[in-house]
Amino acid sequence: MSRRASGPTEGAVELRGIVKRFPGVLANDDVDFSVARGEVHALLGENGAGKTTLMSILSGAYRPDAGTVSVGGAAMSFKSPKQAIEAGIGMVHQHFRLVQPLSVAENVLLGAPSSFRLAGNATEDRVAELAEAYGIRVNPSAKIWQLSVGEQQRVEILKALFREARVLILDEPTAVLTPQEATHLFSIMRKIASEGRAVIFISHKLDEVMAVADRVTVLRAGRRVATLAIGDSDKSELAKLMVGREVMFRVARGDHEPGAPHLTVDGLAATGDLGLPALRDVTLEVRAGEILGVAGVAGNGQRELTEVIAGLRPATSGTVAIGDRDLSASAPAERIAAGLGYVPEDRLGTGLIPSLGCIDNVMLKRTDEF
Ligand SMILES: Nc1ncnc2c1ncn2[C@@H]1O[C@H](COP(=O)(O)OP(=O)(O)OP(=O)(O)O)[C@@H](O)[C@H]1O
Ligand SMILES: [Mg+2]
Repeated sequence: MSRRASGPTEGAVELRGIVKRFPGVLANDDVDFSVARGEVHALLGENGAGKTTLMSILSGAYRPDAGTVSVGGAAMSFKSPKQAIEAGIGMVHQHFRLVQPLSVAENVLLGAPSSFRLAGNATEDRVAELAEAYGIRVNPSAKIWQLSVGEQQRVEILKALFREARVLILDEPTAVLTPQEATHLFSIMRKIASEGRAVIFISHKLDEVMAVADRVTVLRAGRRVATLAIGDSDKSELAKLMVGREVMFRVARGDHEPGAPHLTVDGLAATGDLGLPALRDVTLEVRAGEILGVAGVAGNGQRELTEVIAGLRPATSGTVAIGDRDLSASAPAERIAAGLGYVPEDRLGTGLIPSLGCIDNVMLKRTDEF
């Protein structure tokens, strides 16, 4: 991967003084952000720092409460994503927006301005040509539902390239990728930047930012705290800017002997939301004093596993025991009473009732005690 030797020169995007409020939250607080042509610019920040909001303003999904947006030196006031696409902004969202029964080529064409419409098979040819040019491996005539998540992401990138995006925004693109796929994506990003386009890479993973970006802008609680050249910074400085204090990359782990099993999962199977098998014959044990990690690319059964353990999703076979009690047929409340605590992945959607206060939320699982 070759990066630019010299500093960025020409402006592709210039955001000045961007303010965006949601009820009770100042999501973007007077943010300045500029990206040059030919650079990969990382937008780094913790959950809720305001990264997606800022890029949703640049891509025409939200309108700022204050501040200005200019693209290629011209002032813009996008009233819709369509206007941003026409100005050369392409955004690949965290959750893809593809139509499953349609083919890759049909999806690429969908929603493209009429000037990009091609006759008959010409779209497939153009998609194949673009895929070849950028080393993006995907079959233009395959249906979306047949593709892996990594392949679907490549379709989203092709969609932006087909529309001749001059600024490509990728919102946490590596969350759904294997490490090998992530490395491949980085080479595609570098290739796109090498043509003089700008790539904005939203992430909270420091190693990835260090590996692919030329510059990085750090957001914290809605404010821009720094913009740095990658060569002038390092992981610990970026971590400190991101969270606002020193970060230890190593955790002291004392020697200890694990005790009795607290959680025993045996031969567990379950189906996913679409009725397909999500877990097959999963067996694991967590003993007193242990932390057990479950590794895997998103979408490989981790969520279903935690839901079955918590009693929120039925198992089709296998058992879950807490201590020496088999709770396979028990409701969530009985499992909580038996000592299970569960912090779900989607804390806002399933974990909390955001409109209630902290005390009410804490009491929710213990209502029968009051
Ligand atoms: N449509 C919305 N309505 C209300 N609040 C919102 C909305 N979108 C974002 N927020 C709030 O604005 C803040 C910034 O959110 P944003 O999604 O931009 O953060 P982020 O940096 O992209 O985080 P993450 O890493 O979790 O994706 C958060 O407090 C979030 O809850
Ligand atoms: Mg986000």
